[in-house]
Amino acid sequence: MTDRTALASFEDLAPDDDDFLAEVLEGLADEPKHLPCKFFYDEQGSKLFERICGLPEYYLTRTETGLLRASAPEIAALVGPDCQLVELGAGSGEKARIVLDALERPAAFVGVDISRDFLVEATAALAADLPHLAVHAVCADFTKPFRVPAVEGTSDGKRVVFFPGSTLGNFTPDRAVRFLATAAEVAGPGGAMLIGIDLKKDARILDAAYNDAQGVTAAFNINLLARVNRELGGTFALDGFRHHAFYDAAEGRIEMHLVSLKDQVVRVVGTEFRFREGETIHTENSYKYSVPEFQDMARAAGFVPVQVWTDENDLFSIHYLASGAGT
Ligand code: AVJ
Repeated sequence: MTDRTALASFEDLAPDDDDFLAEVLEGLADEPKHLPCKFFYDEQGSKLFERICGLPEYYLTRTETGLLRASAPEIAALVGPDCQLVELGAGSGEKARIVLDALERPAAFVGVDISRDFLVEATAALAADLPHLAVHAVCADFTKPFRVPAVEGTSDGKRVVFFPGSTLGNFTPDRAVRFLATAAEVAGPGGAMLIGIDLKKDARILDAAYNDAQGVTAAFNINLLARVNRELGGTFALDGFRHHAFYDAAEGRIEMHLVSLKDQVVRVVGTEFRFREGETIHTENSYKYSVPEFQDMARAAGFVPVQVWTDENDLFSIHYLASGAGT
């Protein structure tokens, strides 16, 4: 049981099991088959993702973390005092901590995540560590419209939407622009967005990052089927599918699939799904953007790109975008 007492508020807008079932049935009935990547993050999946973040091949997390540390003073100067930091996909809270430690008198932190227990644990730890910060937790699927609770006493500071990890890459470019436009609304006039975006690069580096030698990414992908078995009474044979990830340079994205190793039939509650040998379930897209490509999308969503930081190897970028008037 996690101690929620240190939290200023906890709001549960999590999708229920019916949403999971409906989206699984819909995705498996489609041709080609697909499943939404947001369902990777049950407790097991969140733990596997944490392990991915520490893998030698998965340069994203440590590069972004280093970049955040190095640029924190400049970020703090752009944000100014008394801000409200809203993190989407709050995860372990480690990145928010770097930003919060650099900011001048941050007034409030709002963590939004789909993974309830994980979110509560991370935000409660943050609240216990930073007693002067009002820490709010919102369990929600931020790919759908969601509310951010009004936080009192922060009228002077701006609202900054923090979206690290290159999670935006999960959306198609069209949906990414629409998502950014929603983020601009959440930030409000005079607000800002701080967002991490994985850069286009040599396909071999990308392929390795999604095909690690220890097989953790494969386990993360297969866990989606295990979760369907656990929560929806699915009959997936976990050794009947293989992880497959590759970079599609024309699309500018990593695709992750689960490949059926044989002709087989799988049931999810009352519905039967047939797989041919070699047929795949498309489970994730992870788009990569050059700096100008991303800045164009940000402008299309109504943001003004103010500053961008990249690491010395041009692996990863962090953008500071202003919404509406002011920076
Ligand atoms: C959390 C969506 C940014 O796309 O790199 C990691 C998820 N998938 N390894 C990514 C992921 C496979 C990750 N994001």
